[in-house]
Amino acid sequence: MKSLVSAAQLGRADLERIIERAIGFADSGHSWDPTLRGWTLATLFFEPSTRTRLSFELAARRLGADVVSFDLSGSAAVKGESERDTVLTVAAMGAQVLVVRHAIDGFPTKVAEWTHRAVVNAGDGQNEHPTQALLDAVTLQRRFGRVEGLTVAIVGDIAHSRVANSLMTVLPALGANLVLAGPSEWLPDSPFPLAGTLDEVVVAADVVYLLRVQRERGAEPAEGYHAEWGLDARRAAAMRPEAVVMHPGPINRGVEVSDEVADGPRSLILQQVANGVPTRMSVLAEIGEAL
Ligand code: CP
Repeated sequence: MKSLVSAAQLGRADLERIIERAIGFADSGHSWDPTLRGWTLATLFFEPSTRTRLSFELAARRLGADVVSFDLSGSAAVKGESERDTVLTVAAMGAQVLVVRHAIDGFPTKVAEWTHRAVVNAGDGQNEHPTQALLDAVTLQRRFGRVEGLTVAIVGDIAHSRVANSLMTVLPALGANLVLAGPSEWLPDSPFPLAGTLDEVVVAADVVYLLRVQRERGAEPAEGYHAEWGLDARRAAAMRPEAVVMHPGPINRGVEVSDEVADGPRSLILQQVANGVPTRMSVLAEIGEAL
């Protein structure tokens, strides 16, 4: 795998190999591995990020790479440099691996065409966020010992969510059963069953995966959204004993999830963040071996 622009590139064997390696990195405390020694990785984020950018940078350093980071607000883009020229400039400095986030669907594919460098999609518009879905699969594998057979309810602003698109590829490929729930205007056409209320979902799911309302993509929660679609302590109490709560972050507290649930015993939210580093190490190691 030279580049990762879509979760759909990965068959079940690829997913299982990446997950197993990520768990190995996690279990060893992200021990240093020389797979990317001598390579330079650049993070090119044209949209804000905390988790994804920092975890890619940590992952690359732990694999021995040099890391450079592009800060949009302090870059020559402010002086009018085009995105293509920005990308070509960073590639000309010798970066072999470009980790890219952009508001436009398909931007990572354009970067790969412009540069012929290895490209990793760190989130493109409403399209995909493949490494988020991978780290979520790693989180489930570590928690339950399996993904196969789990019932995962994806709840909220699904229509605007690149995370949901990648989850809808990765989790069924690993044998999970998906249910979608949320306001009707935010439910996409999909092969997965739809639930009419959050209450019917929480009692049946092994995983309640909440999505952020994507205000930056035009979504706005209706009055009463939290009461109808938010996971609060009352609903969390109705979940199966072993069931868990997930969210890709950043979370809107009091909108899709209450403080009590986000910080409570069912929440895997910070474990998802922690698993981002070994998962991205695993993806970058695969790419390093293909370069
Ligand atoms: N989950 C996620 O992509 O978070 P960031 O926007 O902080 O990278």
